[in-house]
Amino acid sequence: MPDALNGRWLDIGPVDQLPSLGARTLPVRGGKDIAIFHTANGEVYALLNECPHKQGPLSHGIVHDTTVTCPLHNWRISLKTGQALGEDEGCVPTIPVKIDNGRIFIGRREALQGMA
Ligand code: FES
Repeated sequence: MPDALNGRWLDIGPVDQLPSLGARTLPVRGGKDIAIFHTANGEVYALLNECPHKQGPLSHGIVHDTTVTCPLHNWRISLKTGQALGEDEGCVPTIPVKIDNGRIFIGRREALQGMA
């Protein structure tokens, strides 16, 4: 079964190493870092680690519900869509995530798209 996940998905480690309401970054060689977020109710989301405003590191932001607040100027970004919320406009690319057997998998192709 794990073989079926190898092509499309990248295994990035166990969910329980990611604290609730926490985030970690995943460096992409030659590309842009990816931020992985864990919400209070156990959901995991992956976004490019760059705020759509001025590239603030979203992984340093505060997670609440399914949003993260950028640490630089407090824009709120949807973890589900990457869209800026409220009156702010902008969008950061999201990367598909799935949990399998307690491990986090992210979409390989989407994760590597930041390598332009
Ligand atoms: S860089 Fe994120 S709000 Fe300005």
